[in-house]
Amino acid sequence: MCGVVGYTGRNQAVDWLLDGLATLEYRGYDSAGVQVVSSSGNLHGVKCAGRVATLRERAAVANLNGTCGIGHTRWATHGAPTDRNAHPHLDGTGRIAVVHNGIIENYQELRRELMAAGHEFLSETDTEVIPHLIQEAWNGPAKGDLARAVRYACDRLEGAWALAVVCSEVPGQMVVTRNGSPLVVTSTEDGAYAASDVMPLASVATQVTQLEDNDIATLSPDGSIQIVDRNGAPVANPATLTIDWDASAARLGGYSDFMAKEISEQPEAIERLLKDRLGEHGIELDELSLTKAELAAVDRIVIIACGTSYHVGLIAKAAIERWARIPVAVEFASEFNYDENYLVTDHTMCVVITQSGETADTLTAARRMRGMGCTVFAITNVLGSTAARESDGTLYIQAGPEVAVASTKAYTAQIVASFLLALRLGLANGTLAREEVERHFADLERIPDLMREVLARRWQDKQAARLFQGKHSSLFLGRNVNSTTAYEGALKLKEISYLHAEAYPAGEMKHGPIALIEGGFPVVAIVPADHVHDKTVSNIEECLARGAVVIGVATDGDEKVAKLCSQVLWVPQCPDELVVPVVAILHLQMLARYVSRDRGYDVDKPRNLAKSVTVE
Ligand code: G6P
Repeated sequence: MCGVVGYTGRNQAVDWLLDGLATLEYRGYDSAGVQVVSSSGNLHGVKCAGRVATLRERAAVANLNGTCGIGHTRWATHGAPTDRNAHPHLDGTGRIAVVHNGIIENYQELRRELMAAGHEFLSETDTEVIPHLIQEAWNGPAKGDLARAVRYACDRLEGAWALAVVCSEVPGQMVVTRNGSPLVVTSTEDGAYAASDVMPLASVATQVTQLEDNDIATLSPDGSIQIVDRNGAPVANPATLTIDWDASAARLGGYSDFMAKEISEQPEAIERLLKDRLGEHGIELDELSLTKAELAAVDRIVIIACGTSYHVGLIAKAAIERWARIPVAVEFASEFNYDENYLVTDHTMCVVITQSGETADTLTAARRMRGMGCTVFAITNVLGSTAARESDGTLYIQAGPEVAVASTKAYTAQIVASFLLALRLGLANGTLAREEVERHFADLERIPDLMREVLARRWQDKQAARLFQGKHSSLFLGRNVNSTTAYEGALKLKEISYLHAEAYPAGEMKHGPIALIEGGFPVVAIVPADHVHDKTVSNIEECLARGAVVIGVATDGDEKVAKLCSQVLWVPQCPDELVVPVVAILHLQMLARYVSRDRGYDVDKPRNLAKSVTVE
């Protein structure tokens, strides 16, 4: 969850380290720190609870001088977010500094052992054992070789890590390694860089190298990078990645926050995703890496995901079952991983949906499915992410970097990607004729303009946000695919406005949640013109009878709903019921953002959350 950066070269390190950390802040932002090594071999650092902006102020005062350094932005797992627990952590002699993303599972045992040998610890973190282990090795078997000392230390660790290490005895040298947590490096004329992902590197390079688990890379000021594998053998052809977006894509570009920017980017994201997908053979999905016969044989699909991506899975299920007539199960990765009796058939296909491609639970689930003999297909946004690398096929949604913690453009693009998969499967197994696929595809092509229409109606969301003033709880209702719209709308509100939001299938409300309703209680009802419209209208009446204030999400021209609701968030007529959730959710994204702003919160960095959850 944390972000790690490192630089060694001819420039002062601190400026890029701070800029790099700012772009990685979506991974965690409860504390941050940097440590640089001067050419004369002095280690200087600052670290503090709070955000990178606070660290930047402290660093300016500290005047950190050095052309080699490491940095960290933290999402606390072991120990509260305090100055003391912030990274980097040092060894007992103050010569070795380490930043770490991941969790060291055996840290208590190691800490006891090191304390018995006379080591003193200053923090409550799991990480702090690492510099002490490196110190032991440095003075002992590694004999002053930093890469070897890091190897010795890693051999004692259990868990997951991406590490960047500097040592005042070898100024200019930086050693990085990984196991389970992502890490990329790149070499430039100005020096060598390391980071948890490509975001900070986009400003300095277009090509990066991905380290494999247990690779150890030594970065030098001339930009050279030597990589050795777990046996110490040089890695001849490490995997590289080309960054296919401009660094400006990860900047605000005139928007007040990333969430606003990313909400507004959805029409173009869908256009990019659909481009050239309808071809001679129907839906072009070469990424699937399965033959038509293999696709036709698929008799069960298991979709595994977390958070917003799980909601994508629920809509994907509706599309696959309707268009390809294949039974689909959708599982929370964290639940699936501990279900010992999970059943798969010989022809089960697994689809993992993960924006970041790094969610620990989802990766564990994908590995487990592969172990059970299933083909694993990933839908993700991040090029070269672990999910992509470990899957049999990957469909990139190409939504561009998503920075705000609350997912918006990745949600809708992942849904449309799953629609492409559903159409491809339907065509392969003969459920859909070519003409039907073309008709459905034409419906999908209308999504960008429908989204633009909703974006132009954002004033309706701004008005509706006022109905949440002074409230502490709310209920979101919908039926069929739009029960998922209710789940996702409620999740957005919870994530960024810290307002309790219960989401329920509308017909199920009377079995419990209706007890929540009292005078003035806000209810958001998703009630488009579909085959369950009148049923949902009855549920709205039930809410009104108990004093609720109802905000409807309805199709243009629906006078019945207009009469019942205090505010309607209007959605243009959609060509297919499956298109509605992709379009209607934009209103609920904007509603959540306005409620959050009205309450004075940072919409991009909500408390307690991180965008990339790389711990179980
Ligand atoms: C975190 C993020 C959510 C995201 C979830 C799954 O909880 O805050 O926005 O939906 O992880 O992430 P993934 O990258 O696997 O889609």
